[in-house]
This record gives sequence, C-alpha cells and structure tokens, in this order.
Amino acid sequence: MSSNTQQEPHVDDGNIPNDPLTDHSYDGIREFDNPMPGWWKALFWGSIVWSAAYWLYYENGVTPDRSVVAAYDRALAANMEKQFAEIGELQPDRATILKFAEDPKWLAFGKSVFQTNCVSCHGNNAEGKIGPNLTDDKWKNVKKVEDIPKVISNGAGGNAMPAWKDKLNQNEIVLLASYLLSVHGSVPPGTGVAPIKGETNVISDLDASADEPATEEAQPSDNPAKAEAAKAEAEPKEGDASK
Ligand code: HEC
Repeated sequence: MSSNTQQEPHVDDGNIPNDPLTDHSYDGIREFDNPMPGWWKALFWGSIVWSAAYWLYYENGVTPDRSVVAAYDRALAANMEKQFAEIGELQPDRATILKFAEDPKWLAFGKSVFQTNCVSCHGNNAEGKIGPNLTDDKWKNVKKVEDIPKVISNGAGGNAMPAWKDKLNQNEIVLLASYLLSVHGSVPPGTGVAPIKGETNVISDLDASADEPATEEAQPSDNPAKAEAAKAEAEPKEGDASK
C-alpha cells in the first residue's frame, strides 16, 4: 500500500487492455493515452464545417435574408395582404374607424389582435390592468376617435404604452381602434382595478351619424381645471398623439 507508486505501470490481470499509458500516476492509478474515438472527431470537425456552411447560407449578407424568422415574416406579410385584399389599406380616420366598429367580421379580427398583443397590460376585455381601462368614458391621451390609432402607433406615457407602428400593420392598428370603440361602454369583469391617472378626456364625437368631427374646443370636460392639469402632466412627446 505504501510503496505502490514504485510499482509496475499496471498489473495485467487479463481484464486491462495493453494500451499505451500516460506518464502520470496518482496513488498508482494510471491513465490510458488513447486517441479520441473516430466518431467523436467526426462530430467535432463536422460541426465546425457545418457552422461555416450554415453561416454562409444564412448570414452572407448578399442573398436575401434566409433565416426562418425572415421567412416567417414574409409569409405573415403575404397572408396579411391576402386577408386585407377585401378592404385594402385602411386610413386611420374617424369615418373608417367608426365604420369598422360596426363590422362583426373585422371586429373579430381586431379582437384577436388585441388578445395577442394588448391583454397583458389592458386585461382580457380591455378592462385595464397595469394599463388603463379602455372601455370607460375617460381617456388621457385621446380626445377624438383618430387619436386612438395615433396612441397605438406611437405609444404613450414615455413608453409605458409601447409604440406599435413597427410591429403591427396599419390595418391592424385601425381595426384595433374599431375594436376598442366596439367595447366602449361595456363593463367587463375586473373594471375598476386599473389605476386611473390623469384620465380626464371624453370623446364627444362617437356618434357615427354626426359627420362634423368635433373640434378640440368643443370637447366638454366635467372639470376644465383638471383637464389642464392632465395636459400639463403629460410629457411633450405624448402631445403628438393628441394634436
Ligand atoms: C406594456 C404594457 C402595455 C401594452 C402591451 C399595451 N399597452 Fe396600451 N397603455 C399602457 C399604459 C401604461 C397606458 C397609459 C399611458 C399613459 O399613462 O399615458 C396605455 C394607454 C393606451 C391607450 C390610451 C388610453 C388613454 O386613456 O389615453 C390606448 C388606446 C392603448 N393603450 C391601447 C393599446 C393597444 C391597442 C395595445 C395592443 C396593441 C396596447 N395598448 C398594449 C400599457 C400597455
């Protein structure tokens, strides 16, 4: 036991292969000096060659983006175009938004876009969560119907409400606005949970039959002083949305 470091490289009891050994020994334990197996080396070199080929194919910077993400985006855009063939490119104006707020098929579409992108902050039925309730009468960044798509496109509250113009296409944004008007006045479960901060505006021109869009001066506010305070509180960036 004490003199084992001086012993022979290994005692062949018939079970130990007679392969070459490395020259170190730990308490008499020796290590074979065998090469890596062929299959392992093949995997190693193969993965290096594969990565080079992969990089050349997907990231060469010359051929159009071949990544799976890009292909998905293209397929999505093509699909969207097909879907929207019927309605063309919607303008984010009052008449269009009000018109589609009456169209069950496209409202269902708007609702699905809402469910995919907005419920995490505004709740399942727009009742509000960390974002405000969007079904009640009170608005902060919105004074007229056309402000809704503007807020969705550009965001608000210093990005607390993200800008969606790069993530959603214009029709989706318009149809979201229509969807929100369609749920206006509903009182979904959970209403009242979301904090209400600076929501003092009321959209006065919701009546589709009124052709004259209301001017800003005509906006009634139950408390003009409050409305002023809310305006002052809003950051200059957000001013864009309510112009
Ligand atoms: C990350 C959370 C978040 C997401 C996701 C989000 N919002 Fe918001 N949203 C907010 C917050 C917070 C506000 C309030 C901003 C402020 O205080 O000015 C807001 C405000 C709004 C307003 C203006 C309300 C008002 O009273 O001025 C509209 C309209 C709106 N969101 C629609 C949407 C839509 C549609 C989507 C989905 C495409 C969406 N939001 C996704 C957080 C979010």
